[in-house]
This record gives sequence, C-alpha cells and structure tokens, in this order.
Amino acid sequence: MLDKVKVLISAEEIDAKLAEMGRAITEDYQGKELLMVGVLKGAFMVMADLARHIELPVEFDFMAVSSYGAATKSSGVVRILKDLDEEIAGRDVLIVEDIIDSGLTLRYLMKSLRVRQPASLELAALLVKDGVERPPTDIKYEGFHIPPEFVIGYGLDYAEKYRNLPYVGVVEGDLGE
Ligand code: IMP
Ligand code: MG
Repeated sequence: MLDKVKVLISAEEIDAKLAEMGRAITEDYQGKELLMVGVLKGAFMVMADLARHIELPVEFDFMAVSSYGAATKSSGVVRILKDLDEEIAGRDVLIVEDIIDSGLTLRYLMKSLRVRQPASLELAALLVKDGVERPPTDIKYEGFHIPPEFVIGYGLDYAEKYRNLPYVGVVEGDLGE
C-alpha cells in the first residue's frame, strides 16, 4: 500500500519542470497551430498540467496504445487501442508521453505518425529512464532522468492503479494484491 511508496519526484518539482517545458514550447511554437497528442492512459496528467503552462491556442488529440498489459516489463508488443480523431497532415504535432522506458512504444508511434506527413513531429516526455535502450528520435522536451526502476503515480500505473498520486514514487518491496 501507500506506506511502501517512496516519493521520487514531488508534485512541486513536477510543476516547476512542466513550467519550464511549457515556456520552451510557447517560444518554439510562436505563430504555429500546435496540436498536442497525448498517449493514453499514462500521459493524461502531464498533458493537462503541461498544457496549462503553454500560452498558445493549443488543440488536443489522444491516442491509446498498450505495450505492457499488467506486467511491469515491456513485452515488445505495441497495440493501437485508439487512434487520433483528426488528420495530422501538415500539422505541427507534439506527442506528449509520461515515461520513456525501452522506447519501443514511441519508436512505433513516431513511425506510424510520420507516415501521415505532419509539418513537424516532436516529442515531450516527463520521465526518461536511464541506462535503458534509447528511442531513435530526439526527445525535444524532457523532464527528468530517473533510474531504471518501476515508478508509479502522476499518471503511471501498477496494474491500473496509483495513477492518481500527485507525485512520482518508487515502490519499496511488494505492493500486494
Ligand atoms: P516503453 O515502450 O518501454 O518505452 O514503455 C512505454 C510505456 O510503458 C509508458 O508509456 C508507460 O505507460 C509504461 N511504463 C514504462 N515504465 C513504466 C514504469 O516504471 N511505471 C509504469 N509504467 C511504465
Ligand atoms: Mg502503463
């Protein structure tokens, strides 16, 4: 339970980082019509909080992919559970991710979105795990590098739970269930 969760990145630290990322995005997309694409479910909190730090008339869309199931290790299998609602040809698209671990999900996603010929395709990720295989693409806006441990909270789940924690935490021992 929650007494086994150690805070790795506090809510305050997350907000300060998102403010910084939001300022950079605001500058970079001046005069453009930014479309933010959130990768569900994990990115829903980053998406909402990051967007509040962007001073531009942003549009939103969401995709849902699944690479893990209930396991805590990547299976290498990426499924599109929900595609975008809108066409992205000619659009300036920013993908928003919660965490990049193996990079498998992103590699697959960027590849399938690039085929649709957006004007630009960039990536924002709150967390990037160290010491693991990196995605082939640049992460234009990154939040924190974290050790290669399983984390929960701020959108990230363990078997679909704990996404609502306002901080990013590490599980010490077994959460049970
Ligand atoms: P990747 O394909 O290995 O980069 O993993 C991407 C997806 O796996 C993320 O968008 C998360 O949904 C999930 N994931 C990766 N690492 C963690 C973790 O430490 N905790 C919870 N979910 C994770
Ligand atoms: Mg997940």
